[in-house]
Amino acid sequence: MIEAVGLTKRYGAKTAVDNLSFQVRPGAVTGFLGPNGSGKSTTMRMIVGLDRPTAGRVTVGGHPFRSLPNAPRQVGALLDAKAVHGGRSARNHLLSLAQLAGIPTARVDEVLGVVGLQDVAKRRSSGFSLGMGQRLGIAAALLGDPRVLLFDEPVNGLDPEGIHWVRNLMKQLASEGRTVFVSSHLMSEMALTADHLIVIGRGQLLSDMSVKDFISANSADFARVRVPPEPEQREKLTAALIEAGGRVMPEPDGALRVTGLPLPRISDLAHGAGVRLWQLSPHQASLEEAYMRMTQGAVDYRSTADAKEGLVPPPPPYELPPDTGGLAQPPELPQRGWYAPPPPGRSPAAPAPSPHPHPHPHPTERETSEESR
Ligand SMILES: Nc1ncnc2c1ncn2[C@@H]1O[C@H](COP(=O)(O)OP(=O)(O)O)[C@@H](O)[C@H]1O
Ligand SMILES: [Mg+2]
Repeated sequence: MIEAVGLTKRYGAKTAVDNLSFQVRPGAVTGFLGPNGSGKSTTMRMIVGLDRPTAGRVTVGGHPFRSLPNAPRQVGALLDAKAVHGGRSARNHLLSLAQLAGIPTARVDEVLGVVGLQDVAKRRSSGFSLGMGQRLGIAAALLGDPRVLLFDEPVNGLDPEGIHWVRNLMKQLASEGRTVFVSSHLMSEMALTADHLIVIGRGQLLSDMSVKDFISANSADFARVRVPPEPEQREKLTAALIEAGGRVMPEPDGALRVTGLPLPRISDLAHGAGVRLWQLSPHQASLEEAYMRMTQGAVDYRSTADAKEGLVPPPPPYELPPDTGGLAQPPELPQRGWYAPPPPGRSPAAPAPSPHPHPHPHPTERETSEESR
C-alpha cells in the first residue's frame, strides 16, 4: 500500500504537487491520471525518494521509501525509460542492477523473457526503439519481484501490440496481489487498464474513485435538440423543459443539450409548447469528455484553436434548476466549461484531442531536479 498525506512539492514559485492525499491499495491497478504537467511524475519521484516533499509525506508499506529495508525487493519503478547506460547491453544493464540489489543472475534472464527482450538481450540499448526501451524499463522494475510497482506513462511509444501487452501485465501483477500504480494522461487508456482512478490537475486531487463509479458518475445520457433559429422557439422549449424538471445547456453550435428527460417526453413537451423540432437525438457523454470537463481548468498548455472549437463556451444564459446530481454542473469539480460533441457535419477527427496535444512542459526536468542529481 502506498499512502500520501498532504503531499506537496514546490519548485521555487511553482507548486507541482499541491496537498495530495490518497491511498493506493494492493490487488488492483490504480490509474494515476492527469494532463501533462499536472504533477504525476513528481508524485512518483517522491514515492521512491528521488524528490523530497516540501510538505506532507508519502509512505510505502508504512515506511518512507528511504528507510524501507531492502527497497529494490519491495518497490519496482519505471519512471524514465531513457535512464539507461546506452553503451551497455540490455542484459548487462539488468545484471548491474541485479548485482547492486543482491538479486540472482537467473532472475535477469527470467525478466528478459517476461518482457520479450530475450532475442535482443546482448544488443546495446542505445539502438533500442522507444518501445524496446519501455520494455527494458519494465524488466528493471520487475527484477526484485516487488510487491509494489510504479509505472510512469508505460505505454508511451508502444505499438498496439505492446500497449495490449502492458495492459495485461499490469492486470496480472495486480491479480497476484501486488500494488500497481500506473500513470497516464489518456483517459481511454486508464478506462481499459485500471480498476481504480486517481485524477489530478495542477497538482491537486480532482477525483479518487473506482473506474466503475467514475463511469456511472460521468457518462450520463443526454439528448441533443435543435429547433428553428427564431429565439422565441428556443426560449419556449427551454422554459417547458426546465418546468418539467430537465436541465438545459446551450451547445456552441446552437443546439441544446438536455439531461434528465427521456426523448419521448422532450418531444411531447415541444409539441405542447408549439415548438418544431429539427433534431432530437440520444447521446452518451464519453469518459474522455468527463475527464476533459474535469481537468479543463487544469490544463497548462492549450491550443488557441480549442476555444474556437467550443471547448470554453460562454456561460449558459439560462437559469439552471437546483442541482439534481445530473451531468450539467457537478458542483464539486473545478469546472470552467464543458466539452460538447461535434456538431453534425464536422469531420469526426477535428475535435478529438490528439494523443499529445500539449508540448511536454519540462523537457529538462531530470537535469533541473535538485534531488535527482
Ligand atoms: N525539477 C523540476 N524543476 C522545476 N519544475 C519542475 C521540475 N519537475 C517538474 N516541474 C514542474 O512541475 C509540474 C509537474 O510536472 P510533472 O510532475 O512532470 O507532471 P506530469 O508528470 O503530470 O506531466 C510541471 O509544471 C513541471 O514543469
Ligand atoms: Mg510525467
